[in-house]
Amino acid sequence: MIMKSSTAVAKMTLDGEEVGFTPGETVYEVAERHRREIPTLCYDPRLEPFGGCRLCVVELEGARAPVASCTTKAEPGMVIRTRTDAIDAHRRTLLELVASENRENDVDPLRGYASQELATLLDRYDARTGRFAGSHSGRTRDDDDNPFILRDYDLCISCYRCVRVCAEQQGDYAISIKNRGFATEITTEFSGLLRGSACVFCGQCVQTCPTGALADRKALANAEVPGKIEKTRTICPYCGVGCSVDVMTKGERVVGVQPAMDGPANEGALCVKGQFAFDFVHHHERLVKPWVRGEDGRLREASWDEALDRAAQGFLKAVAEHGRYSVYGIASGRAPHEAAYTMQKFIRMGFGTNQIDNCSRA
Ligand code: SF4
Ligand code: SF4
Ligand code: FES
Repeated sequence: MIMKSSTAVAKMTLDGEEVGFTPGETVYEVAERHRREIPTLCYDPRLEPFGGCRLCVVELEGARAPVASCTTKAEPGMVIRTRTDAIDAHRRTLLELVASENRENDVDPLRGYASQELATLLDRYDARTGRFAGSHSGRTRDDDDNPFILRDYDLCISCYRCVRVCAEQQGDYAISIKNRGFATEITTEFSGLLRGSACVFCGQCVQTCPTGALADRKALANAEVPGKIEKTRTICPYCGVGCSVDVMTKGERVVGVQPAMDGPANEGALCVKGQFAFDFVHHHERLVKPWVRGEDGRLREASWDEALDRAAQGFLKAVAEHGRYSVYGIASGRAPHEAAYTMQKFIRMGFGTNQIDNCSRA
């Protein structure tokens, strides 16, 4: 007899509707799948649930107080209400508490991928930004003059997404949490600068920060460039991993790069080159035409035909003087298969050597 395998789907009630879930899912995941809009600030789907901001609270029938949906596992028979007047008021007050502390909440979107999250929620819940007076947490690190990451902790709401992404996604543990309450600081070991820490400037902390407290300095340098930001999905030009990125432009100008959170090869991660090294595009020293060295030893502009002829002569001269093993072919990791195939044919058939490689192997 053939036994049919079946996936057990448990049931719970969500806003009066019976819905199925897979054991292990959180209430937030079930609700999101059923298109409920639950606000979050400390949540990043790539990270372990943390339960710090309490913005995602929902009513659970039988519970004394609202529960955080991002850390509560769905159970059979649960009755959940994601939106009631009391829950809305609770969320609005929480938002007003964090927003009242911040120097500004409407920040430039060039700061980072998630930088608009707090401002968007403030609008959605019609939350006031100056409702609560008193102490402020977060001390901006003006002394950290690294070229990539602005550490503007006046805007920090202690969601710890930066610390968790650095540990859980990047495996770097470059930053951590010091002190508690209003004295809380996001810091490196011994409170030093990022460049003196284990930081590899991948920028993941920047891109997950929901307030722009951590910001992309290189993109922000283009804040005054006029025009609306457009995003174009493409692949990072640097290596063979093929990380998906959104290139940000204003008109014809590239103003920044953000990782694609749904990129199959990178899931929101980038390295320092893919994240920050985009200014070569408009660099005044960028080569846009071939150059060859003249008889006087100086470089001068040339046509493609002249440059290719010069390269061919160089290969022939090297082989004539030093033999076929003086030639070595390395394909670019960004080249398509066809180009890599042509390169190995060119080296093998043209020079009679198998000395070939691909930079993606490095
Ligand atoms: S710097 Fe940003 S990501 Fe880090 S704890 Fe503060 S608000 Fe959260
Ligand atoms: S840039 Fe990367 S390595 Fe450096 S602190 Fe941020 S997440 Fe960690
Ligand atoms: S998103 Fe659930 S507690 Fe912050």
